[in-house]
Amino acid sequence: MTHKAPYPPFELPVRRLSVGAVEAAAEATAVGVVVFADDDDVPGIGAARASELGFTPKPGATLVLAGGDAPVTVLLGAGQRSALDLAAVRNLAAALARAVPAHTHLAIELPLSELADSEVAAAAVEGAALARYVYRIGAESDDARLDSLELVAGQARLDDLAAGIARGEVLVRAAKLTRDLAGTPGGMLTPTQVGRVALEIGAAAGLEVEVVGEDELVELGCGGLLGVSLGSEEPPVMVKLRYRPEGTPSGRLALVGKGITYDAGGLALKPGDEIHATMKNDMTGAGAVFAAMTALKELGCTNEVIGYLMCTDNMPSGSALRLGDIIVMRGGTTVEVINTDAEGRLVMADALVLATEEKVDAIVDIATLTGACLRTFGTEIAGVMGNNEAILGQLKAASARVDEPVWELPLAHRYRGELTSTIADLRNMGGVNAGSITAALFLNEFVAGIPWAHIDIAGTAQSPADRGWINKGTTGWGTRLLIDFALNFSA
Ligand code: BES
Ligand code: ZN
Ligand code: MN
Repeated sequence: MTHKAPYPPFELPVRRLSVGAVEAAAEATAVGVVVFADDDDVPGIGAARASELGFTPKPGATLVLAGGDAPVTVLLGAGQRSALDLAAVRNLAAALARAVPAHTHLAIELPLSELADSEVAAAAVEGAALARYVYRIGAESDDARLDSLELVAGQARLDDLAAGIARGEVLVRAAKLTRDLAGTPGGMLTPTQVGRVALEIGAAAGLEVEVVGEDELVELGCGGLLGVSLGSEEPPVMVKLRYRPEGTPSGRLALVGKGITYDAGGLALKPGDEIHATMKNDMTGAGAVFAAMTALKELGCTNEVIGYLMCTDNMPSGSALRLGDIIVMRGGTTVEVINTDAEGRLVMADALVLATEEKVDAIVDIATLTGACLRTFGTEIAGVMGNNEAILGQLKAASARVDEPVWELPLAHRYRGELTSTIADLRNMGGVNAGSITAALFLNEFVAGIPWAHIDIAGTAQSPADRGWINKGTTGWGTRLLIDFALNFSA
């Protein structure tokens, strides 16, 4: 089914920022200089003048000094030298990008620190590029442009910086892709379109891509995905991706993403308010899985990774799933659908079962799953739950490295009873409380005890404001987390 409305096609983020490591800025029209609170001087103008101009070197503070014919200098407050970590570096580069929005050629002088220079470089690229990147339909917005970035440091550091730049560029490209996919309206980025994008970009990134359509989903018995798609004129799509490293994989991992291209709630129709106008981003999990996987080859991942993007929209219509209907999931589990708006767990369940059949070492799923998670953690922290301490530990470590914060909630089996149905194996909804936990308990029913973790990004997929590497709007959250996790995963 194609749309009657003249929607422009989804376009890939094409602009390629040029980044280099240099001893002295050459192209830049604005140069960021990091100022620590425990250094006596402020470069260029001295501490006294800086404070007259209202600049104190605390994190986030910036001061733009006009340069005449020379490039403008941007003072970047950094707080205590000892507090400099990768998140701080990322945020300094982001602060530079925001302080001089009209400048498209930037440079930043990278201070010496205990941190590995390659990681510092990657973080600086991520911060500057992602702080500038706003998804915009049709045309690229001028103020989002960044043409070149020079990382300035002494000769001895340039090789390490160059290695980090390459990595940073891959991470940025992936996160931008997720922002674009999540930002594209549901009427435009249909499940069919997701399949097309996956074939186009996935193949180019060295992935095996299988676009599984409706007939094949029927054969596979994917009653969750098929059930949710019943109300829609758009056919569902499951995209199965596989990354194979060269040689024997060090471990085998499955990633599962919720790909609801638009969540109207089904017959349990959502209200027409601002928050529900963001439900085009209900495929951010699938976007993050896909975009993360496009980075694995270039970054030399040694694990095999299988990805599942479970794509459909969740629409009300005469053919929609009814409240009280029973569906049969892959593997035969029957589910009584109490609420058609608890659709994410239904589409995810089929993929979790398929992942267990691949006998992977671990499964990680990521989904904009519950409004309760947004209420619990707000928009800056994602919830995680799981059945395995080692996997949760690896996720938390990755989360800290990429500055995509997660916090663990208990997979509290004491609430499992809330999912008991009298006429089927499970209900798709628990009681009114602990909604994020009961959603995770539902997913847990389908992982067959394989080490598994679930990331609920209902709060973090969308940001209400600019903040560090994040911009107002779709954040691309989870992309860099999954990349880091997959690279460092050990079974
Ligand atoms: N996609 C939503 C979750 C969501 C809500 C994300 C608000 C971001 C902001 C999900 O499909 C949903 O509707 N969940 C329901 C589950 C409930 C019916 C058990 C919810 O959280 O209200
Ligand atoms: Zn949803
Ligand atoms: Mn829903």
